[in-house]
Amino acid sequence: MKKITVDFTGIKNFISTEEIDRYQEKVTKINDEFKNNKNNLNEMLGWLDIYKSYSQEDIMDIKKTAKEINNKADVFVVIGIGGSYLGAKAVIELFKPYFQNKKNDKAEIIFAGYNMSGEYLEELVEYLKDKEVCINVISKSGKTLEPAITFRTLKTLLEDKYGIEESQKRIFVTTDKEKGLLTKIADKNNYKKFIIPSNIGGRYSVLTPVGLLPISVAGIDIQEILVGMDFAKNIYNEDEIEKNDCYKYAIVRNLLYLENKNIEILSSFEPKMHYFIEWFKQLFGETEGKDLKGIFPMGVNYSTDLHSLGQMIQEGKRNIFETNLNILNKKNEYTLIKTKEDFDELSYLEGVKIDDINEKAFLGTVKAHIDGGVPNIIINIPEISEFYIGQLIFFFEKSCAISAKILGVNPFNQPGVEAYKQNMMQLINKYKES
Ligand code: PA5
Repeated sequence: MKKITVDFTGIKNFISTEEIDRYQEKVTKINDEFKNNKNNLNEMLGWLDIYKSYSQEDIMDIKKTAKEINNKADVFVVIGIGGSYLGAKAVIELFKPYFQNKKNDKAEIIFAGYNMSGEYLEELVEYLKDKEVCINVISKSGKTLEPAITFRTLKTLLEDKYGIEESQKRIFVTTDKEKGLLTKIADKNNYKKFIIPSNIGGRYSVLTPVGLLPISVAGIDIQEILVGMDFAKNIYNEDEIEKNDCYKYAIVRNLLYLENKNIEILSSFEPKMHYFIEWFKQLFGETEGKDLKGIFPMGVNYSTDLHSLGQMIQEGKRNIFETNLNILNKKNEYTLIKTKEDFDELSYLEGVKIDDINEKAFLGTVKAHIDGGVPNIIINIPEISEFYIGQLIFFFEKSCAISAKILGVNPFNQPGVEAYKQNMMQLINKYKES
């Protein structure tokens, strides 16, 4: 079976093979910790073995629920923030057509609860008023304010619209088995509940029901994503650096960081990748940015950003490195059209595939950036399919956790997120007094 590959040619001017090899002992130790669940790591390593933890019934249950939702709803609202939002959004955007004229048999999927804009919520309520609606509220802690505000609003909307009994059949809850208020709300109201395993943190949870239910509603084959993920799990299990691109990527990132390349830019020439890049930013940002350390994860969408941040990447401060998501087989055959006159002097490109021209832009950009002093890594993805996306998700999840361990930070907590919450709650609690 084919796999995603990583091309490290573009770091050769910056890092030597010997420097990478020096990490072998360290990586072997981390690999051993992961494999043998040392230092209580197993408490948060459930995502490594997620496929095994599902029975066929679990997968069928998600697919059956997705079908029910599609039968009932024009719109499916997925409420969540951070790890309870971005994974599903990333995968769904990858498989969605860019433009959709005709209504298909799938519900429109709208994400909410990741902001507290009054305008967004008011317009959402207005938009949903005359539509058939189902909702899925996702929160592992069951107490995050942003999704809670949206959930209260939409739960009430559904109850007013359909009555209590029918609304109960249209509300789906994804949360922890025991902890948090949401699980109690689900039990009290008889909502169908999907469980987020306690040993999987938010940003590693896309292949739990957090992501799988919305992804399945979008008509994407979740079983095949899990097969891809499991395939990657087996190939990225080996501690020998030269045989494990996932570990090599984690090491290279850290070596570049030590060379003061403290910003990583994930780029793609396919606009569909936009939210995958957002997911990457969240995964690496919350995992590595702590104890005053961390590589700042950035993202760009090309060609758009070649005419904006491209200038900074080419000639700005040399504290960046770039990782490209390169889709090898785009399948699309669309070519530059023939015209009667060569009014734009582009006739020499007639009949050439647009994606081939896009590829030349990619190759030209990689070369320009390397020449400009930006180390470059290319992740080659054979095509956008469920199998390869499953692989890619696992590749980033595991490399992220390993990279954080090399950096010397805890890959599975996010204490910094509490700071804004505490200040916000202090300010909000004033409403209790008035
Ligand atoms: O990765 C994480 O753990 C976070 O990004 C959480 O997913 C995010 O804060 C949302 O938390 P919860 O699902 O508890 O509402």
